[in-house]
This record gives sequence, C-alpha cells and structure tokens, in this order.
Amino acid sequence: MRAMLLEGKKGLVLNVTNHNSIGWAVAEAAAAHGAEVGVGAQNERMMDAVTKLIGENPRFTPFMIDFTQPEQLDQLARDVAATYGKIDFLVHSAAFAKREDLDGRFIETSEEGFLTALNISCYSLVSLCRVLEPLMNDDASVMAMSYLGSVRAVGNYNVMGVAKAALEASVRYLAVDLGKRSIRVNTLSPGPINTVAARGVRGLLDMIKYVNDRKPVAREYGQEDVGANAVYLMSDLSRGVSGQVIYIDGGYNIVGF
Ligand SMILES: NC(=O)c1ccc[n+]([C@@H]2O[C@H](COP(=O)([O-])OP(=O)(O)OC[C@H]3O[C@@H](n4cnc5c(N)ncnc54)[C@H](O)[C@@H]3O)[C@@H](O)[C@H]2O)c1
Repeated sequence: MRAMLLEGKKGLVLNVTNHNSIGWAVAEAAAAHGAEVGVGAQNERMMDAVTKLIGENPRFTPFMIDFTQPEQLDQLARDVAATYGKIDFLVHSAAFAKREDLDGRFIETSEEGFLTALNISCYSLVSLCRVLEPLMNDDASVMAMSYLGSVRAVGNYNVMGVAKAALEASVRYLAVDLGKRSIRVNTLSPGPINTVAARGVRGLLDMIKYVNDRKPVAREYGQEDVGANAVYLMSDLSRGVSGQVIYIDGGYNIVGF
C-alpha cells in the first residue's frame, strides 16, 4: 500500500469551480493521502457544483468565500473553527482579472482592472493568512498558485502577470511572518492548463501547445501533477522548505533556445 502522507491533517483548498480546477486536483490528492479537506466555493451557484463534486465523501466539507466580500472572511474563520478547530494547510487557488485586461496591450489596463486583479488574485492570500493564522497549527503549510507570467512577459497574460509577481513577493513576506511558528509558505507555479480561469486569457490553447512543444520532459503535465506537489508541500516531507516557487511545467521555465 502507498504511504498516506497526510493522515490526521486538516485544511482548506480555496476555491474550486469544477472537475478541471487545479484546486479540485489538489483537494482530491490531499484526501487520497488521508487529509480532511475543506473545499471552497465562491458563491451559491459554484456551491452547487462543489457539492456535486464532493458527493458523499466524508473527507470533504464545503465552505463559501468570495474575496470581493471581505466580511465573509470572518464568517469563514468561524465556520472553519467550528468544523476543524485547527488546520494544518491552506491552499490559495483563486485568481481573477477582467477579460479585457487579458488581451492585447498591457499598457491599456485601467486602474480599476489593475486593482481588481491585484485584490482578488493577491491581496486575498494576505487577508486569508491574517484571518486564519490563529487557527493554524505550528508546522502548518500555506501555498498559492502562481504562473511564469510573474517573471516573464507572456502575451495576453498582462495584468495577471503583475498580480502573480505580487503574489510571489507576498509569499516571501508571509513566509517570514509565519515562519516564527514554523508555518511555511510557498507557491506552486503550473504551466498553462485548460481551466475556466485560464480560458480567460486569449490564445490559451496556442500557449499550451507552445509549452508542450518545448518543455524538456516529454510526458504531459496536468492538474494531477500539481496535486502531487501540493501533497508534498502539505506533508512533513517539506518542513524545511519555505518562500519557494516550485514550477510544475515539465521544466519549460528553464529552456532558452
Ligand atoms: N490553469 C492554468 O493554466 C494555471 C496556471 C498557473 C496558475 N494557475 C492558477 O491556479 C489557480 C486556480 O485556477 P484554475 O486554473 O484552476 O481555474 P479555476 O477557474 O478552476 O479556478 C479559479 C478559482 O478562482 C476563484 N475566484 C475567482 N474570483 C474569486 C473571488 N472574487 N472570490 C473567491 N474566489 C474567486 C473561482 O471561484 C475559481 O474557483 C489560480 O490562481 C490560477 O491563476 C492556473
């Protein structure tokens, strides 16, 4: 039998839209390794989908959180405390930018579009950590989902690249703050994967083909690979690792010519 790396651990994956969501792959992998997993839905409509995904599996509990509604954070903390008491992991898997800001020239990004993308895709990690810190066990593991557009100019990714750069910097500062309690904070950085959020970026399918044609590792990567790395980061195997960006893109990020 395969080792259960997360037996006895509890935590949250925020948020999930459908079976293609990276967050769902993370939640399934964590549950398969013995964890109890709170699965986040943004609103009532998405809650229907999340409830169907969860089905009768007792390892999952649904929670609701919309980052545009800051007052929901305190309610989330109360719900999590009532369900789990303390948590061992927090996975931030959420991003949003207006569709018109994921197409064409970055220079055209409006102030409102810029602030929206940064608020929902980055500041939400900071506020989640602040509100949930009292519920985190020492040695807990926090992680976010970034993308290579944080450090390279990727066509059409635009303001989301700036949000991911801010997310990666926030991860480093949070790693210092929370590290005092041996809580580690990292980010996974998957290559492009066909999901609802990713389809907001114009030319996604071309981007996926481009990366697939050039990455060193021949086999295709996908959501399951992100789930496997998330399990590693949630597990005690990664206790010495914090503030890092781990790419899950078949090595594409290291390729020059
Ligand atoms: N798919 C990719 O190619 C790819 C690559 C690298 C990183 N990522 C990142 O992975 C994470 C998950 O995205 P995904 O690709 O699985 O897509 P997805 O659409 O399945 O998930 C995005 C999630 O963000 C949530 N969200 C958006 N606005 C929100 C708000 N106001 N409040 C709360 N939640 C909100 C949605 O509810 C959704 O569940 C995101 O951070 C994304 O940037 C995706």
